[in-house]
Amino acid sequence: MRHDQPSHARPLPGTITATAHPSLAVAKYWGKQPGAINTAATPSVAITLGAIAARTTLTVDCGDGGDQPLRDQVILNGVSQDPRRFRPFFDAVREAIARACPDGVTDPGQGGTGGPRAQDLYFSVRSDNDFPTAAGLASSAAGFAALAASALTATLGARPSEEISRLARIGSGSACRSVYGGFTQWAAGAPAAEQLYPETWWPDLRVVVLPVSTAEKPLSSRDAMNRTRDTSPFYEAWVTDAPSLARETREAISRRDLERLGEAARLSYLRMFSTMFGANPPILYWLPQSLDIIRGLEELRRMGLPVWETMDAGPQVKVITDASHARQVADEFRDLLVSPAIISEVGPGVTIDTPPDGTG
Ligand code: ADP
Ligand code: DP6
Ligand code: CO
Repeated sequence: MRHDQPSHARPLPGTITATAHPSLAVAKYWGKQPGAINTAATPSVAITLGAIAARTTLTVDCGDGGDQPLRDQVILNGVSQDPRRFRPFFDAVREAIARACPDGVTDPGQGGTGGPRAQDLYFSVRSDNDFPTAAGLASSAAGFAALAASALTATLGARPSEEISRLARIGSGSACRSVYGGFTQWAAGAPAAEQLYPETWWPDLRVVVLPVSTAEKPLSSRDAMNRTRDTSPFYEAWVTDAPSLARETREAISRRDLERLGEAARLSYLRMFSTMFGANPPILYWLPQSLDIIRGLEELRRMGLPVWETMDAGPQVKVITDASHARQVADEFRDLLVSPAIISEVGPGVTIDTPPDGTG
């Protein structure tokens, strides 16, 4: 049974689509503060990538209320997902809606009451990524940024980026940065990310993504960082050291100093992986091809090329360089890749592609 929609209510159900891009950290988030959902133990500074996108299509439907069990459902790349991964996120969406519309979901600005209550809403999501999912290319960042924007827009209309970022963070920490384009930071303990500079700040900067595997990682980023915190003797040193690398990264971006950015990027990812090597059982995301590329880049730097790598929770290598060297990097490592290199500029934040149409 559905609630009848009063004439002033935001029409539900509705369909909405949003697009977001991966957030590539130069200074890494690795570890959560205890007690809160996805608040970072380390500050991170990141680039939103323009070339690869994840699109979320979201339909919102009304449940029957009362003691009906909620029926949130996520179908990702055609596969139904474990609802436990999404439960805290959708609960946070319902809380945000309840705060904004205590009397039911109504058209913003109309002041009416009587639409469906937040606790009666459930969410049905279809999402597809146009790049490998759960493989170390920040699909969780793009996915939850798109999801947060579309869930809020579908129910409450346009909302401030800060609110979308807070909500995205509940789904995946890195997602709070993907809400914004350009250069972003997410401070340790902060509820949301912020934009440091827009995507126009550094037109010559390029990131070359070198995919060496499309396989899903054996251990999610979340489980890996929790295991690291719980078992690695290097974890405390990592958390203590991380703020200085975040500062160095911000400084490099403010001066558009590629060499400084690249050197900071290498220190951050290698120190992050050092904590993982020290975990029990140890975590080793790298493939032989990852190390071949790292060695190859060392050689290119010796020849004077401006190329520095970073890696995330997966075997892929991403190269920070400039527009005039990006193609050369892509060609150099072609034989090691499972799919063509992706050359990316700095990209935009989350966008709503199709607003609610009201026709259901
Ligand atoms: P990655 O390195 O790709 O970010 P994670 O282990 O951090 O890998 O997260 C992968 C998980 O993120 C997926 O299993 C899924 O739960 C979620 N996710 C990824 N893409 C999307 C999407 N487009 N929509 C919703 N959830 C997504
Ligand atoms: C190595 O944001 O994917 O990419 O918050 O548990 O969803 P959850 O983890 P996630 O971790 C990203 C880790 C990283 C570094 C970074 O993006 O800062
Ligand atoms: Co992720």
